[in-house]
Amino acid sequence: MARLVVVSNRVGIPDGTARAGGLEVAIRPALKKRGGVWFGWSGKVAEGTPGPAKTVTQDKVDYVTVDLPQDDYDEFYNGFANRVLWPILHYRLDLAEFTRRDLGGYFRVNQFFADNLEKLLRPDDIIWVHDYHLMPLAQILRERGHKNRLGFFLHIPCPPPEILTGLPNHERVVAGLCGYDLVGFQTENDANNFSRYLANEVGLKRASDTGFRYEDRVVEVGIFPVGVETEPFERMARRAAASQFVSKVMASMAGRALIIGVDRLDYSKGIPERLHAFERFLGNFQEWRGLVTYLQITPTSRTDIREYADIGRLVGEAVGRINGTFGEASWTPLRYINKAHSRTALAGLYRSARVGLVTPLRDGMNLVAKEFTAAQDPDDPGVLVLSRFAGAARECGAALLVNPYDSEGVAIAINRALDMPIEERRMRHQANFATLVKNDLGHWAERFLGLLDGEASSAAAAGFAEPMPRRAAR
Ligand code: F6P
Repeated sequence: MARLVVVSNRVGIPDGTARAGGLEVAIRPALKKRGGVWFGWSGKVAEGTPGPAKTVTQDKVDYVTVDLPQDDYDEFYNGFANRVLWPILHYRLDLAEFTRRDLGGYFRVNQFFADNLEKLLRPDDIIWVHDYHLMPLAQILRERGHKNRLGFFLHIPCPPPEILTGLPNHERVVAGLCGYDLVGFQTENDANNFSRYLANEVGLKRASDTGFRYEDRVVEVGIFPVGVETEPFERMARRAAASQFVSKVMASMAGRALIIGVDRLDYSKGIPERLHAFERFLGNFQEWRGLVTYLQITPTSRTDIREYADIGRLVGEAVGRINGTFGEASWTPLRYINKAHSRTALAGLYRSARVGLVTPLRDGMNLVAKEFTAAQDPDDPGVLVLSRFAGAARECGAALLVNPYDSEGVAIAINRALDMPIEERRMRHQANFATLVKNDLGHWAERFLGLLDGEASSAAAAGFAEPMPRRAAR
C-alpha cells in the first residue's frame, strides 16, 4: 500500500491539547489506522525566520509541523483564508475583505508548504490535502514536476459559481483545484456547484458523469460526507454520562430539561439567530419557563479578526438580555460558556440533553449534529433540532429540520422537541443513527482513499451505499 501523506493547515499533534476542530477530529483516526505522515502548521507564530520543520512520531504517524512568520500568519491565515475564503465559501460575499497583499501571502505560504513537503515526499506517496487554506498546493507541486496522486477535500461548503466568481482572482484560487486528481465535497449540492463552476467558468469538458478533462488528466469530483466514529462515540457517551463532571452539571440543573448548543464562536454558526429563537420560545411557550436550561458552549476562535470580536459582543449582549428579561432569582434560563470542553465531556452532556440545537446559517457538515445523534441513549433519546443549511441535514433527515433565519419556526421546533412522545423520539433517533453507522468516519476515509488510490474507476463509486432517509415530515 502506498504511503499516505496528509496535508492540512492544522495538525492534530498528539500533545494532549484539546482543540475544537472538526477537521482534526476527522483525520486523526483515518491516519492512525493506515499510518503515514501529517504535515502542516504548528499553530505557532515564529519570531523572525521560522526554523526547520519539527517531527513527532506516534502510532505509525509522523506529525511534521512548521511555524509561520508573523506576516504569513496575518496575510495567509487571518487574511486571505479567514477574511476572504471563509466568508465567501459560506455564502457571505458581504463579509469578505479582499486585498492583493493577503492574496500574495496565501500563495507564499502555499509555496512554503510545498518547499517543506518536497523534502518528505517519495514518488509513490499518495497526498491528501484538506481545506480552503491549501487550494493551490497541487498546482505548485505539479509545476515542480511531482507526479503523485493528489486528492483534495473541502470540509466547508462550496457555493454556486455566481458567488465563487465574486472572489477576486478566483481563476487562480478556485480553478487551482484542477491540479488535483480527485476533489471531494461534503454534499451533492457542494459537488454540483463546483462542477457547474468547472463547466461554465473554467470551460472544462466532461470526461464522464463525475470527471472533467484538464490538460492531460481527468479531475474527478466526488461526494464524501464526513462521518463520526458512531458506535465508539455512543460507548464513550454512555461512560461519560456517568462521570463526575456530567453528574455535577446535571445536579445543577435541578431536574430541568437540558437544551444544549456547542459551536465555535463564528458568524456561520447562527448563534445570535438561535438565541433570538430561544427568546421567542420563552416568550411564546411560557409553560416551559423555569423548566428548561439552555447551555451554550462556545469556544472563541480567530480572535484577531474583527467580525469574530463583533459576533462575540452581539452574543454576549443577547445572553444578558435573555437572562435579564426571563431569569429569576432561582432560575437562569441560559448558561453561556466560552471555555472549550473535552470531547468526552461533551459526549456525556449530549447524552444527558433533551434537545440539541444545531442551527448554523451555513455549514459544510457539522459534526456536533452527528456526535449529538451518536451519543443518545436509544431507549430515551434526546431530539436534534437541525438547520437545513448544515451538510448533516442530508443524513440526519429524521431530525427536526429548521430554517435558522426563522426564529419563530425554531422556537416551535424547540417546543415540539421537548414535547415529543418517546416513540417518536426513538423512531427519529433510530433512523438517523442507522445512517450514521453506515456512513461513519471509516467509510469516509476508505472511500476517498480508495478512489484516490485508483482502486475504483470513477467517482460514481463514491456514492452512498444506501439512500439517505427522506426529510422528516413536519
Ligand atoms: O473545516 C473547518 C475548520 O478548518 C475545522 O478544522 C474547524 O472546524 C475550524 O475550521 C478550525 O478553524 P481554525 O483552524 O481557524 O481554528
